Amino acid sequence: MSARKTISIDVSTCFGKNLIKTTEFSKAGKAALKVESRIKNEVDAGRLGFWKLPFEMRLSARLKPIVEAAEAARANRDTLVIVGIGGSSLGTRMMVNALKHRYYNELPGLERGGMKIYFLENSDPDSFKELTDRLDLSHTLFNIVSKSGSTVETAAQYALVRELLMRRLPDTWKKHLLFTTDPEEGSLRKMAEEEGIAALEVPSDVGGRFSMLSAVGLFPALCLGLNVKDLLSGAADMAGRCTSGGLFKNPALTLAVIHHMADTSFNKNMAVIFPYADKLQGWAEWFCQLWAESLGKALDEKGNPAGCGTTPIKALGAIDQHSQMQLYIEGPNDKLFVFVRNEKFNDPAKFPPRTKLPAAYDYLAGHSMSELIQAEEAASRFALTKTGRMSYEIRLPGISEYTLGQLLFLGEAMTAYAGYLYGVNPFDQPGVELGKKYAYGLMGRKGYESYAAEMKKTAAADAKFII
Ligand code: PA5
Repeated sequence: MSARKTISIDVSTCFGKNLIKTTEFSKAGKAALKVESRIKNEVDAGRLGFWKLPFEMRLSARLKPIVEAAEAARANRDTLVIVGIGGSSLGTRMMVNALKHRYYNELPGLERGGMKIYFLENSDPDSFKELTDRLDLSHTLFNIVSKSGSTVETAAQYALVRELLMRRLPDTWKKHLLFTTDPEEGSLRKMAEEEGIAALEVPSDVGGRFSMLSAVGLFPALCLGLNVKDLLSGAADMAGRCTSGGLFKNPALTLAVIHHMADTSFNKNMAVIFPYADKLQGWAEWFCQLWAESLGKALDEKGNPAGCGTTPIKALGAIDQHSQMQLYIEGPNDKLFVFVRNEKFNDPAKFPPRTKLPAAYDYLAGHSMSELIQAEEAASRFALTKTGRMSYEIRLPGISEYTLGQLLFLGEAMTAYAGYLYGVNPFDQPGVELGKKYAYGLMGRKGYESYAAEMKKTAAADAKFII
């Protein structure tokens, strides 16, 4: 385990001329305290499902079935395929990206230290075929992850996987499947029970995008040989920091208030999520989904129009300096920038001494690649500040299970706080559900005929606009 270091956050570049005034921030702090005590009450009453996970999943009774399933998987198979989408896959992808070698699947078995891992997420038939054609099915376990059990993309992948397994491995096909789904509800749970397929649980009070620290992420983590105790401890320690203290002490509350003020007082309705480390690209993707799906809401908790949410934009330093930065520095000042800095790369990659460098590049001598990427992050943030842009920086003292646990819980907690600041329910996603209904209609699912009919009618009227 890398030392149990705590992540820190520098919000100094949110304050100043044309940015937030500390007096305004303190005023906002009063409303924020109400939200903080609301969260604390819900946590104490055990009503926030995701908040319980880092604590409860460390209990052996909760972890045991997941450990046993992972041990069986590792003993009998060498490849794991995660079949799921959105909150059911992005957390696991974030974890593999952060904690495993970039070319993990290509490493020889011993060096890899765990099962190979692939993902079937999109309903894209080419991706499906290109992966399944290459798998040795007899050594593969398909983990079908769906809280609801009804998501059409996952249902579609499962239908094809099931048929493939039945055809190629008629006697053992069920042993190549593991469902992760609601403990009681939904089609997958029903199928698990009726067909005798092994299944793990996503607790009923935890929604997809908040479920990373349940069997959804912990089962693959164990199959890959990751240290889930450290992951959970990191999350639990961050949870401890995020329940009290008010502004400048409680990191999730402080960041939520910054995002909320940036939007409501400074018209910054976009947030650029900008990690400077390839290993944190998956975190940016995961966080963007969490933020967007939780906060983009038409109605507030009382049913009044809210129309709120800020648009998260994925970026990656230093690559996007050569793609987006011109716009960020000189374009409209309508974004809040969230830098994530890795203070300790696994290998700093030192540059050769001056004598071995071409004269034009000799300024690199005595430095390292890690210093370069850190300097680029600091320079970009400084340049953005100089041009009046608002930003803050999350600092990671290295990337490990413990620090990732902190980072992911920080993301979840600040999203929950932001939801309550906007007065919306951050745990539902009615808009996504609406899109699902139209898709079911188009695919001829019983009960959804009116949705298909409505689309057909609109399509006929729109025909004249097709060029
Ligand atoms: O966060 C969410 O609720 C969504 O992103 C879901 O995870 C996604 O729609 C997949 O749903 P399910 O896990 O029910 O298949």
